[in-house]
Amino acid sequence: MAETSKSWKQLTRAATQCIDTPLSDWLAQPARFENFSHQAAGLLVDLSKQRIDSDIKSKLLNLAESRALPQRIEDLFTGAAVNSTQQRPALHTALRAAPEDRPEIAAVVAPVQARLNDLVSRVRDGRWLGYSGKALTDVVHIGIGGSQLGPELASLALVSQSRSAPRVHFVANIDRAALDAVLLGLNPERSLFIIASKSFSTLETQVNAASARSWFLERVGHLDAIGKHFIAISSNTGAAAEFGIEPANTFELWDWVGGRFSLWSAVGLPVMLAIGTRGFQQLLAGAAAMDKHFRHTALVDNLPVLMALTGIWNYNFLGVTNHAILPYSERLRLLPEYLQQLEMESNGKSVSNSGKPVSNHTMPILWGGRGTNGQHAFYQLLHQGSRSFTADFILTNGGEDAPAQIADHQRWLLANALGQSQAMAQGQHDPDPHKTVIGGHATTTIVLPELSPFSLGALLALYEHKVFCQGVIWDINSFDQWGVELGKRLAIPIFEQLAGKSPLLQDASTQGLIKHLRKTKTTDEDR
Ligand code: F6P
Repeated sequence: MAETSKSWKQLTRAATQCIDTPLSDWLAQPARFENFSHQAAGLLVDLSKQRIDSDIKSKLLNLAESRALPQRIEDLFTGAAVNSTQQRPALHTALRAAPEDRPEIAAVVAPVQARLNDLVSRVRDGRWLGYSGKALTDVVHIGIGGSQLGPELASLALVSQSRSAPRVHFVANIDRAALDAVLLGLNPERSLFIIASKSFSTLETQVNAASARSWFLERVGHLDAIGKHFIAISSNTGAAAEFGIEPANTFELWDWVGGRFSLWSAVGLPVMLAIGTRGFQQLLAGAAAMDKHFRHTALVDNLPVLMALTGIWNYNFLGVTNHAILPYSERLRLLPEYLQQLEMESNGKSVSNSGKPVSNHTMPILWGGRGTNGQHAFYQLLHQGSRSFTADFILTNGGEDAPAQIADHQRWLLANALGQSQAMAQGQHDPDPHKTVIGGHATTTIVLPELSPFSLGALLALYEHKVFCQGVIWDINSFDQWGVELGKRLAIPIFEQLAGKSPLLQDASTQGLIKHLRKTKTTDEDR
């Protein structure tokens, strides 16, 4: 793996020259914050705690130019087949603001959106009645990956917006415990099930949906009731119909919307139900504001571009191989999981667009957890572990006009975030080596003006576009995910073998595990 382009070599040289400079020296540069923090769509992205100066920044921008990034951004927005292995565009941006030059997109999106709005207002104002004439109180969203992570994150993040909203629950895992935890205490007469699956063939969703339907029918007794209690969101409308969901209750997805970019489509229905259609429009508007910034701002001031380049600098040139997402917000606690799919499923690739092995490593390990909880768990390793890391701190402002006690919580939250990023950057020397904190860990801080639908939309679009830019620079297709298929396929015969229905053909280890699992299985009698 060795990239030989001029811009790459220049950066490699720059990294060797600066690797030993303490981060505190960079922080001491004049006008550090003014020069390296940027704002767009209401968000502040502070890169001043990164090992970047104007020279490195311009070398990184040269790299982006050398990859024709501006042209590739246009390709994304204008519907070129940026998903090269599937020959598809990735037009999730068109769901946030209808492209003026693509009337055919608006023509398919608008009617679905109108039907969704109608459904949402009927459920929220109590006009949608269950089979026995009662209004709905609970919504169970069944889906996984892109058909779950975004809607669950956004519903949780924006829950305070919901007044006349039903309670929204999510079931993703095929572990029956996930479904049972939600069904327990639900009244089928007042429950609405959303089956969200772009393909309508994902194992987990299929199994959970079938079990939810059985649970419902066992209590209700007649098939006709399905019409008032089951909704499908899918691009495979035929399979949804076979499952028994009426066309009137089926909302379409298109192949130009990737699963992990589908929050903005009908997949966002639980969010619409939780915060209302006006709130959802704000979420779209926030994302559209970031889209506009991304498409029309020069690379030098372009937030997603700068975040992407900073990530590449840390990973490919400074050798930092893991990146933590640290939201200082209870309501954004699902952000690390959401970004794991967005970033790792998009850019965890080792074959370039042309089908050859990539010339550079792609995508660091991304992980994380909410502050302040993480401070009492994994931060010890961050401060004194033997490996380096980078991190994004995500802060939400606001709450100062709340009653004093509530405002104190918020101020403590922010104080802890800033204290931690400072400690990571500067460290602390102590005569006792056990108490020394090395520091020197570069971090980015993103500040949302408040946790609103608009700012959340802008934040998620910021990361989507960062991922796209990194994919362009690494020359990979960020929009496919072939790597997830093999393990799923191998599970199919194992399912039969665990039941003793077919001979064991696996390797010795897998055979041994299957035999052990069969032998030690707990039966009802043992319990
Ligand atoms: O994990 C693979 C994947 O295809 C994701 O890309 C997708 O978001 C998820 O499965 C769910 O897929 P579907 O919406 O088709 O059920």
